Amino acid sequence: MAELTTELTIAIPKGRLERETLELFAAAGLRLDEHRDSRRLACRHESGETRFIFVKPSDVPVYVEHGIADCGVVGRDVLFESEADLLQPLSLDIGSCRIAVTAPANMPENGHTMLRVATKYPRIASRYFGERGQPVEIIELSGSVELAPALGLADCIVDLVETGRTLRENGLTVTEVIAQSAAQLVVNRASYQLKAQVIAKLISALKGALVSAST
Ligand code: PRP
Repeated sequence: MAELTTELTIAIPKGRLERETLELFAAAGLRLDEHRDSRRLACRHESGETRFIFVKPSDVPVYVEHGIADCGVVGRDVLFESEADLLQPLSLDIGSCRIAVTAPANMPENGHTMLRVATKYPRIASRYFGERGQPVEIIELSGSVELAPALGLADCIVDLVETGRTLRENGLTVTEVIAQSAAQLVVNRASYQLKAQVIAKLISALKGALVSAST
């Protein structure tokens, strides 16, 4: 089938994964020099055929599922939490971390009937404790979740652990690991058909960059 357009829009997650993602795309032949130190949220590669948009990590599946972006990079943590219908053709060897239950070393009795769990990941946490038959109260937060046990808002948290520094500095330890996470290339289902050649080329270039990085 002839491709209607070869232009590709790629959603890049701002924050934790951003630098490593841009380095990987640069190694795959899509370097974006002008993005550094810039607050622009969309820019085009010099070839003119690829546009990058910079969005909150949890919004990457939204942009890709709706076809605003053809592809995106997102952590598995976000994908576990999202219900978006996306293709996941390539695991990228960046952004490795764990999703874990963490709690103060000596968790005090809370006086409540249910364990109170603070998290940015309500679906992951509900599923995890639900599968164990443990009733919990999920307290949804948007960030700085590690503060919740110290301030008495929750007994434990479900959050990402990358270096472990945030946990240590807030007096928490990992009690259970729920899953491993790493960045994933996600692709819109229609784009995968309509822009098959250009997406195959991108996947192949990213695979090449991953192989070079590992040798
Ligand atoms: C993430 C995560 C932890 C921290 C883990 O937060 O939610 O708080 O990073 O990293 P570490 O193990 O290397 O210390 P993020 O930086 O995204 O900020 P947030 O708390 O505002 O969500």
